[in-house]
Amino acid sequence: MKQADTPIGIFDSGIGGLTVAKAVKDKLPNERIVYFGDTAHLPYGDKSEAAIQAYCVKIADVLLQKRCKIILIACNSASSVAFDLLKEYAGNSAKVINVIDPMIKYVSEKHSSGKIGLIGTKRTVLSGVYKDKLFNRSPNLLLSPLATPLLVPMIEEGYLNNKISHNIIEDYLSDEKLTGISGLILGCTHYPLVKDEISNYYDGKVDVIDSAERVASELALYLEQENMLAKNSSSELDEFLISDYTDSFARTAQMFFQDEISISHYPLWE
Ligand code: DGL
Repeated sequence: MKQADTPIGIFDSGIGGLTVAKAVKDKLPNERIVYFGDTAHLPYGDKSEAAIQAYCVKIADVLLQKRCKIILIACNSASSVAFDLLKEYAGNSAKVINVIDPMIKYVSEKHSSGKIGLIGTKRTVLSGVYKDKLFNRSPNLLLSPLATPLLVPMIEEGYLNNKISHNIIEDYLSDEKLTGISGLILGCTHYPLVKDEISNYYDGKVDVIDSAERVASELALYLEQENMLAKNSSSELDEFLISDYTDSFARTAQMFFQDEISISHYPLWE
């Protein structure tokens, strides 16, 4: 039974989903968040579909045990290959939301024709999910995807706004697959951490699109419609569970959620 006062579960392989969690918290401050960062298996983007699905089911189990009313897959790689599986797995116990559909909705409303670029992990690009979903809504849009696998480890290591990150980003964005685009989908929840660097590369001339606020708005709308919004702010702290302790996670979580936060080590397999 879904209760208004139960938490929102959010997960990613690491710190990327914190960009989504932060947008959710800003939009819905009364909601309590249980965040799972599967740092032991990061990066997801290089893993097989079967491996990612197995991690996702384990994480869903944890979030269901915590009585989460929502399971928000704050990871494009997992959203690409495990959304249908998790919906089936959670059944009526929790509503499952992915980060891809709100982006598709935005792109098809905002751009009617032309070429849109997509950068993401190998798994997200190989899955073809963005291409299929966008084609269904906007057959006149051409989607040109490019896997950018160095960005997640770079961001996890804190290489932001420096010479190395500039060079890597420039090298990827100068790929001919991305020439002539009018919009660029950041198809990985880690990438908003380098959104300014990406926007600067394009000098503001390309619509650089990330999922965080769009997903938070869709979530707010759903909770309101279903009368599931938390009425009062919770006395319990937001909870951050990580399958392996990393300094990077602790540092970034602290940066996003300046209040007191609780981070615990929670191995998925003992
Ligand atoms: N942030 C995730 C995504 O949106 C995962 C990146 C990774 O672990 O490779 O795809």
